Amino acid sequence: MMRQAGRSLPEYRALRTDVGMLESCFRPDLLAEITLQPVRRHDADAAILFSDIVVPLKAAGVGVDIVAGRGPVLDHPVRTLAEIAALPTVEPGQLDAVVEGIGGVLAELRDDQVLIGFAGAPFTLASYIVEGGPSKNHGITKALMYSEPATWHALMEKLTPTVITFLRAQLEAGIDALQLFDSWAGFLSLKDYREFVAPYSRRIFDAVRPYGVPMIHFGVNTTELLGEMAAVGPDIIGVDWKTPLDVAAARVTAHLTEVGLPAPRAIQGNLDPAVLLAGPEVIADQVGRICAEADAAIAAGDARGHIFNLGHGVLPETDPDAITRAFAEVHAR
Ligand code: CP3
Repeated sequence: MMRQAGRSLPEYRALRTDVGMLESCFRPDLLAEITLQPVRRHDADAAILFSDIVVPLKAAGVGVDIVAGRGPVLDHPVRTLAEIAALPTVEPGQLDAVVEGIGGVLAELRDDQVLIGFAGAPFTLASYIVEGGPSKNHGITKALMYSEPATWHALMEKLTPTVITFLRAQLEAGIDALQLFDSWAGFLSLKDYREFVAPYSRRIFDAVRPYGVPMIHFGVNTTELLGEMAAVGPDIIGVDWKTPLDVAAARVTAHLTEVGLPAPRAIQGNLDPAVLLAGPEVIADQVGRICAEADAAIAAGDARGHIFNLGHGVLPETDPDAITRAFAEVHAR
């Protein structure tokens, strides 16, 4: 369950009272404890590493902070070739705290529970870096892409090794699966996604595939991009709450087959986070519908399996008991 905008657990808020968000990502004891809190409380099958997509940038020395209620904010946006050249690439040694924290998580998980690591994909990272913070329409980022393609590609070339190093550090530390978040890729047309984004995401999946762990790829509003996002190399395609899972899986399989790539893949998703605010009957209903759509996709040969998940992050005002109920509903099926 994605929870970066969540802060839904009182035990998480208690641990974080005196510690900054990014600071807590570099404290192995806190990292492990915060990762494990929701697993214990909700009896989850998987833990999601407590970190953030800007952690490798912070580790590399980039001036970035996470502002409550907003998200990642940079001291200085990066928009020129000179600024891109000056942007540091993360070195494995700068991620030791994350590696140590992962060891702490793995020591506590049961044998039937897994740890999912993650990174932000280059386009989504680039959006924060170019805009200087969260953006409603990613206008400055897209304008740079359109008006100065060479500068854009230089930025993607710069970010791709940092993403690979961040994922490799987690893989070496023992994560069981990984998710590459291209949260904002859905703001692009299919053509622009193919030209400006897909080659770099593909390079990342190619670089980490030898570790042999399941790889998930996800973005919001990606209905039109699902096939192309599957084609860059993940084993599992995450779906937001707008597309029924059977429809999404059929689209993905049709596209992969058309371009001659292996299909089917697995699907992940896709409860609307707002459903968790709507009461037990609605939760039970929607969980049942999603599991039935996933079963239909598998029966049709369009999916190899299903990971139950939210269609995006838990809303901050969510009652933790509603999450526990949703998990119990999934386990009861
Ligand atoms: O929302 C998106 O998809 C945007 C991109 C993104 C961010 N972080 C930026 C951000 C993504 C995909 C993440 C991943 C993330 N961050 C994860 C893994 C996946 C998941 O959701 O579980 C995790 C565990 C984090 C950790 C995190 N980051 C937390 C708990 C918080 C809230 C900070 C707090 O006050 O405790 C963040 C901050 C953050 N990073 C936000 C965003 C959009 C939200 C800022 C806010 O609303 O306060």
